[in-house]
Order: sequence, then structure tokens, then C-alpha cells
Amino acid sequence: MSNLATLKKETSITQQDFRTSMGQFATGVTVVSTKDQQGAPYGMTASSFGSISLDPPLVQWSITTKSFSYPIFSAASTFAINILSTDQQNISDIFTKPIDRFENVSWEIGMEGLPLIHGCLSWIECSVENQIVCGDHTIFIGRVRRARYFEKKPLLFWRGGYEAVQ
Ligand SMILES: Cc1cc2nc3c(=O)[nH]c(=O)nc-3n(C[C@H](O)[C@H](O)[C@H](O)COP(=O)(O)O)c2cc1C
Repeated sequence: MSNLATLKKETSITQQDFRTSMGQFATGVTVVSTKDQQGAPYGMTASSFGSISLDPPLVQWSITTKSFSYPIFSAASTFAINILSTDQQNISDIFTKPIDRFENVSWEIGMEGLPLIHGCLSWIECSVENQIVCGDHTIFIGRVRRARYFEKKPLLFWRGGYEAVQ
């Protein structure tokens, strides 16, 4: 059997099995924020965030290209990662809903007008280094321009639900 045929055979899993297997991996929860083309604050809950490189400092996150949020992030030159704390589960929920999300949280203005949510563990402010279309998602790579952190415990996401560090 060719390598390609072997690969196709090995990757023929159901979407449900893929989802369930990936859901075993516990992550933190972030709100990725930016400014839309009118300069208004915008954000979306994302757990796909991770670090890539120390020198230069690079991070990544990914977004489904089917979402309402995708064209907003795709047009932006900066984004901020707001890492949520244990007591911010309501904020994670707010930033998945079709409402004026920033109307419902306390925030301040950061680098180049980026909205930063109060009460987070970290704020990581980035300029967009690259966008890579990959399957049904686009990966955003950010160059970190400013990073700040606070002494708090993280909100976790595991097996499709929220968890807290004990
Ligand atoms: C804990 C959690 C993590 C999520 N992570 C991601 C993610 O990394 N990428 C993504 O595209 N959607 C992610 N979502 C879903 C988006 O937040 C949601 O689809 C989006 O806010 C829907 O809004 P929109 O279609 O208006 O953009 C996540 C949702 C939750 C609750």
C-alpha cells in the first residue's frame, strides 16, 4: 500500500471520535479581542491559543472560517489574548453570543486601541504576523508586542465543560 493510501486509511475516523478524543485535552480559555473596521471593540471566546516561539515572541490561535467573527479578525492588524480566570466563566459565555459583547463586561483600552478585559490572568497584545488557511480554520500568528500578567487562577475547558484548578 502506498504511503498516501496508508495515511487515508489511518485518518478515517468519525468527526465524533475526533471531537471526543480532542476534548480530553484540557485547555485554558481566552477571549481574543480586536477592533473592527469602524474602530469598535470586538472579541470571541477561543481555547485554541498557544505559544509558538520565544525569540521572536510568537503566539497562535485559530478560528473557524464559517464564523461571523472571521472576517473581522481577518481584516485586523492587531489582536489581544485575554486569558480568563476561574471567576470569568460568564465572560466566556458572553463572548460566544450574538450580542454586543463588550457592553456586558468591564474593559480598558490597550495598545493601538485594543480592548482589554478586566479581571483576566494575562493580556497578550500582538500584531498579526501571518494568517494561514488550514482545513476549515484559519490560524492567526501574532508577534507579541506587550504582555502583562496578574496573580489569579485559570478557567479551564475539558471534555466540553468548564473546570477550575483546585
Ligand atoms: C470554551 C470555548 C472555546 C472556543 N474556542 C474556539 C476557537 O478556538 N476557535 C473558534 O473558531 N471558535 C471557538 N469557540 C467558539 C466561538 O467562541 C463561537 O463559535 C463564536 O463566538 C460564535 O460567534 P460568531 O459566529 O458570532 O463568531 C469556542 C467556544 C468556547 C465556549
